Amino acid sequence: MRPAETEPKVPRSPGGWWREAVVYQVYIRSFADSNGDGVGDIEGLRGRLGYLEELGVDAVWITPWYRSPMADGGYDVADYRDIDPLFGTLDDARALIADAHARGMRVIVDIVPNHTSSEHPWFREALASPRGSAARLRYHFRDGRGPAGAEPPNNWQSLFGGPSWTPAPDDGLEPRQWYLHLFDTSQPDLNWDNARVGAEFESILDFWLDVGVDGFRIDVACFLLKEPGLPDFPAYGTDPGGDHPHNDLEGVHEIYKGWRRVVERRGGRAVFCGEINLPAERIARYLRPGELHTAFNFDFALRPWDAAELRASIDETLASHAAVGAPATWVIGNHDLPRPVFKYGRALNAASWNAWSRAEPSDQTLGVARARAAALLYLALPGSAYIYQGDELGLPEVLDLQPDVRQDPTFRRTGGADVGRDGCRIPMPWSGDEPPFGFGPAGSRPWLPQPAAWAALTVDAEARDSRSMLSLYRDALAIRRRHPGMAGEEFRWLPGPSGTLVFARGELHCAVNLSEAQLPLPENASILLASSPVSGGRLAPDSAAWFEVPAD
Ligand code: GLC
Repeated sequence: MRPAETEPKVPRSPGGWWREAVVYQVYIRSFADSNGDGVGDIEGLRGRLGYLEELGVDAVWITPWYRSPMADGGYDVADYRDIDPLFGTLDDARALIADAHARGMRVIVDIVPNHTSSEHPWFREALASPRGSAARLRYHFRDGRGPAGAEPPNNWQSLFGGPSWTPAPDDGLEPRQWYLHLFDTSQPDLNWDNARVGAEFESILDFWLDVGVDGFRIDVACFLLKEPGLPDFPAYGTDPGGDHPHNDLEGVHEIYKGWRRVVERRGGRAVFCGEINLPAERIARYLRPGELHTAFNFDFALRPWDAAELRASIDETLASHAAVGAPATWVIGNHDLPRPVFKYGRALNAASWNAWSRAEPSDQTLGVARARAAALLYLALPGSAYIYQGDELGLPEVLDLQPDVRQDPTFRRTGGADVGRDGCRIPMPWSGDEPPFGFGPAGSRPWLPQPAAWAALTVDAEARDSRSMLSLYRDALAIRRRHPGMAGEEFRWLPGPSGTLVFARGELHCAVNLSEAQLPLPENASILLASSPVSGGRLAPDSAAWFEVPAD
């Protein structure tokens, strides 16, 4: 049975709540641990829903909570219709959804259609079945190249490093067969040309809609189809763009039209957000009527702290989304990206423009100032906004994790050349002076160690400090919720000196100073919120403010 439906507290978006929702991303392993096993869980999250309500978010996106060997933090699913015992049970999930709804918040789950875990019954069956069998046709098995098929079938590289092929167990036949995995060996890619695969996922959507979820974030949504024949990709190292033979194939749109029909058949309440890392105009093709509702805006998240860059991203995003009638989304962090306070504290050079990289040094004081300003920028833009857990506390990227505690497969697969994403996945600090900082019961050991210095960054500590990042986020979300200028999609640029971004939405003005000079605000500006103190009517470098300009 569907849990009782509740409307968002401010149902002002006639086109649908998701068009301007603030979505909070819960990386469930690291949010709150109720039973002291060191790993976050559903009960832990249930116990912290009050925090999210007070923060003022409209929806919660929960990263995969399905049965999984956790080789990639749950993005390796062994059973799409059950909760991993680490996190709880299906009944816990139902209770969580009911509680969230009672507080006026929606729940979005993560769906992982590109690959299963190698522990999924389908893949086990495929390995145990002969070549060419129906079980193998659900995945991509191919003969190897070279003598006895000892070489991978093509030159594709795993996004986690190394080849994207692993040999199937030796069945005594030649040539050797291999299976495709765009990510880790333990994440075999499904064959989406096989109708059985599509039918299974539509049934999985139905299953979770029955449980009561309000939407789905679709993992690597544009990778599902592979070019027939799986040709080599000649451009490695030169053009990682959209033309890879596994990226953004035209047929993928048909898959999402089918998914949209699944939710429309059930009243159209649930929404999709695709993880689609492509240029804006190609993302927009997924957001045409009858396809996905929204897509995660990597372009904005990956731009450096530079006014022209960010302005270009905003313009391209707004124009391409408006052309298909879809709302933009705005993002500065997630569980794959370096923490904003780290990312924005790097020098503006070519290396720092690679926003995925954790290798460039960062100035933390500068990073915090800019992350505060970035928060006021992205939360003021029209559309929906995502907050990755801990970014509202200004948590830094943790760089000094010892190799033996690192769990991201990227670290292992690149021989440590890429330290991976564990540094942005450290368990949340809630309270107290020492680890586990209320993440779990006293004496429990979080699955990744928390820095002792995080005593100053706990939710409790920041809630007591009106100048903290948390206070800034709470204030910003409260204004976003009640200010008439923030409703709807109106947006206009206003003139400003070079290196600044100034715009208005109705009566609400936002100025962001990315230059090295002070930015004078209009004389009669009435400040609603600022990322750093505004003195003498001037906005300091690396700061932002929201204000109104009363008519004389
Ligand atoms: C997505 C997820 C990432 C995961 C990958 C493979 O990019 O965000 O965390 O490792 O897909 O599923």
